[in-house]
Amino acid sequence: MSEFAARRKQLLEAMGDGVAVFASAPLAVRNHDVEHPYRQDSDLYYLSGFDEPQSVLVLSNQHEEHQSVLFVRPRMPDREIWDGPRAGVEGAVERFGVDAAFPISELATRLPDYLGNVERLLYRLADNEEFDSTLFACLRHLRRGGRKGVSAPEIVVDPSVHVHEMRLRKSDLELDLMGRAAEITTEAHLSAMRLASDGVHEYELDAELLHVFRRRGSERPAYESIVGSGPNATILHYRAGARTMSDGELVLIDAGCEYAYYASDVTRTFPVNGRFAPEQRALYEIVLAAQKSAVEAVRPGVTLEEIHLGAVRSITEGLVEVGLLDGNVDTLIEEKKYQPFYMHRTSHWLGMDVHDVGRYYEGREHRALEPGFVLTVEPGLYVAEDAEGVDERWRGIGIRIEDDVVVTATGHEVLTAGVPKEIADVEAACA
Ligand code: GLY
Ligand code: MN
Ligand code: MN
Repeated sequence: MSEFAARRKQLLEAMGDGVAVFASAPLAVRNHDVEHPYRQDSDLYYLSGFDEPQSVLVLSNQHEEHQSVLFVRPRMPDREIWDGPRAGVEGAVERFGVDAAFPISELATRLPDYLGNVERLLYRLADNEEFDSTLFACLRHLRRGGRKGVSAPEIVVDPSVHVHEMRLRKSDLELDLMGRAAEITTEAHLSAMRLASDGVHEYELDAELLHVFRRRGSERPAYESIVGSGPNATILHYRAGARTMSDGELVLIDAGCEYAYYASDVTRTFPVNGRFAPEQRALYEIVLAAQKSAVEAVRPGVTLEEIHLGAVRSITEGLVEVGLLDGNVDTLIEEKKYQPFYMHRTSHWLGMDVHDVGRYYEGREHRALEPGFVLTVEPGLYVAEDAEGVDERWRGIGIRIEDDVVVTATGHEVLTAGVPKEIADVEAACA
């Protein structure tokens, strides 16, 4: 609770005069009266820890009494029998430490009290159309109050500029939670490596990952697990399907759990029968060398672009060595000849969201890493099953190796170092 309160305080100080409004994630209907599992909006959660739907957080440094206000679903025993307990208005104040709380049904009548005669509204437009309309109605209402001496905000700015920069720099508590997510994910990958063998379906490994996540207290995967066997490993966002894996194939698993709203994001590629075949080994070694030198490069001051260019160079050199590309490495890089085999970038921010918030550029310049940033390092090589002009023996091989890396004051720490990636270690884990 104190960490959430400290975040609100930090935002109130950073944002300057004005009132900030954050809405909960909308409920999504799956079909008829069944909803998709609910997950709170990351910004709202980051600032409050409040995980119920139909809620709104208002932060003001201009209201006379209330700096922080939650609008929530009120207690309603008849509904709670069906949907589970609610914090209610009293619980919102007691358990979440806001200055005041009101029923969400009073939002339209009470929001003008907070937004009236305030010059700057901080609200992220166009993310949540339903709530945009609610807020616009409030602004229209205030604009009609001119003759009574009430004015509407004239300036609307995006508070994410502040919140997302705060989220990009992880606190010690956040790094602990990310370490915990990484630990559970490590166990899940190890378990899937043990389980894979000739005749196992992709969905069985998917189920195993989920089993470990949930058994160890993770709420949900941080994204839909990718389990691609054989040529499916060359499809970047393939989901686990019904394919049966066979002796002699590789399987690529890209899966990470979410723990206490923090994501992990790990990829490993391993042989179904526990032994890399010569072509698989050759390509794996290229990706492994690129991944390890990219991880080594992580330290304050370096940019993701530099890390990516290093990985591209390493992969291009490897492709020349095995004969998949031919020519001068610099020219091949310049002409992007590696792209049919390596078409995605090497890193993204990681945090509450798997592709986390935070700017990647400082103006037009790539931004430098700072201590407390967390990123993935995930180069890969993918030879499509129908790749033209490629020797048959390489086709249908897809490999990615992905770790979660924290930037420290002096270098980096790999949160997911416990998931084997050296060839001998992978083979031992699969045995
Ligand atoms: N699992 C999505 C990614 O690696 O970016
Ligand atoms: Mn991933
Ligand atoms: Mn990733």
